[in-house]
Amino acid sequence: MEIILTVEWMKQVSRLARGEGRLSGLVPTMGALHEGHVSLIRAAQQECSPVTASIFVNPAQFAPGEDFERYPRRFDADAALLESLGVEYLFAPEAAELYPPGFSSYVKVEGLGSRLEGRSRPGHFRGVATVVLKLLEIVQPWRAYFGRKDAQQARIIQQLVRDFHLDAQIEVCPIVREADGLALSSRNAYLSPEDRRAATALHRALGAAQAALGRGERNPANLAAAMREVISAEPRAAADYVEVVRADTFEPATRLSGECYALLAVFFGTTRLLDNMLIVEAGGGFRCEI
Ligand code: PAJ
Repeated sequence: MEIILTVEWMKQVSRLARGEGRLSGLVPTMGALHEGHVSLIRAAQQECSPVTASIFVNPAQFAPGEDFERYPRRFDADAALLESLGVEYLFAPEAAELYPPGFSSYVKVEGLGSRLEGRSRPGHFRGVATVVLKLLEIVQPWRAYFGRKDAQQARIIQQLVRDFHLDAQIEVCPIVREADGLALSSRNAYLSPEDRRAATALHRALGAAQAALGRGERNPANLAAAMREVISAEPRAAADYVEVVRADTFEPATRLSGECYALLAVFFGTTRLLDNMLIVEAGGGFRCEI
């Protein structure tokens, strides 16, 4: 595996791969890699060669007072893992490489980017869209891989690609979970043992919505209420938002149809965790992907 630190070098390598007609894949990450990230790498390796993973803790997507400074950084272990998986390139620029002095252009995805996560974390999606646009421009992948764990982020990136006529195809991969249902996240490392146990409430809440759906409940407000009930029953949990939204717009679903997301953002102590379930209308009923 080749570790690439500069934009110029990465662009040169990308140009070469493209010139040879190779179908390259990109997996953007902020490091502290876990099985969720590994699943994206494996998906990329099924379809692409070469595969580039990026590790960049993007300052632009953290608001002042958020966890940028203490975000887990484990570069050597991450690089060893990527190497063992057979990743060809690791793009790991310093912050000043992507945001040199004088940097002043940002991308804002309006509408989609201002709801839910966008409302709770102002500026977050502006930082995400800006860095992902940069990565797609620098690496020029045929396909780029994202996790459904961050469903709104994945949808915003699809919108970015459409709006800027980018060539990359955006692939969205399933959520990887711990045995007790907690979605893997680099931020799970912040949880105290008590909060770690309590955090299963996220998955239990999705299970409650799924069970209600199974009983014939079709009102999105009642599905959200079933999830809220589970969260409120957990004393260590404080809900930020619990919603059922349309998967295309992330606006509240007034009725269940097509594809919807049951979405949760919940605090355990100071740690804010996300989870979701995709609800798909199929064969006269609804199927859930947790
Ligand atoms: P990060 O949180 O490191 O996540 C990198 C990718 O891994 C994202 O696409 C995320 O959705 C996916 N992922 C995280 N946990 C997952 C899980 N349990 N199952 C499946 N996929 C999972 O998301 C970011 O970094 C950044 O915002 C980034 C896109 C890299 C831009 O800075």
